[in-house]
Amino acid sequence: MARRPFVAGNWKMYKGPVEADALAMALKRALVDVGNVDVAVAPPMVSIAAVAARLRHSGVALAGQNLHPAAEGAFTGETSGEHLKAAGCAYVLIGHSERRTLFGEDDALVAQKVSAAMRAGLLPILCVGETLAERDAGQEVAVVTRQLEVALRGMPADQAAGVTVAYEPVWAIGTGRSASPAQAQEMHATVRAFLHARFPAFVGAQVRIQYGGSVKPGNAAALLSQPDIDGALVGGASLDADDFFAIIRAAAGR
Ligand code: PGA
Repeated sequence: MARRPFVAGNWKMYKGPVEADALAMALKRALVDVGNVDVAVAPPMVSIAAVAARLRHSGVALAGQNLHPAAEGAFTGETSGEHLKAAGCAYVLIGHSERRTLFGEDDALVAQKVSAAMRAGLLPILCVGETLAERDAGQEVAVVTRQLEVALRGMPADQAAGVTVAYEPVWAIGTGRSASPAQAQEMHATVRAFLHARFPAFVGAQVRIQYGGSVKPGNAAALLSQPDIDGALVGGASLDADDFFAIIRAAAGR
């Protein structure tokens, strides 16, 4: 089954409300005629309202970069899935390697966040990926499998089918050194095989697996031409409307 490509831009802690609005405006202008690709952007929390207003009716969806597992409560500085949803988000990134390594998020917390996203009616973009040390030790498949196993344990099949998995080798994020198309395809095939082993066939057929880690206009087409690479999670290059648009065009042509 052909999966519709899905490209998401992770703006990380860049673009406050004024700059985010300008980037959203540039994107809206560039994206008028890209039909067969799903596109989302994940601005910083404080910029979501401005971007939501600018991108209304544009076809570009919004994603949160993180969420707290609770629906509400005395959790100073946190944001719930329910609040992201109310602010206009359709998706939420969960388990990004920066959250895992810089903010101590473990697999158990990632799993709670995946459940919370489902409860709030958000579609998770579940980020998985190994560090360089883990790859050098030949543990990349074990690490990614463990991350998937814990995050998706016990999930009903119809919910699992709505998850997007983003394979982001940590050594490729923000380093300018992307995985080769063959390396990425190999892991994407492993992720797909995991889904087929754990869920009914339609789940593995439907779930979109994005590649992330130094995706740029120059390498996007080669990565996206791989059979199990269904899109991209783009960091740095998503901060430039022309670069992001070039990656979306590469996805449209896959
Ligand atoms: P990068 O980031 O494209 O800047 O490597 C990807 C990500 O962290 O999602």
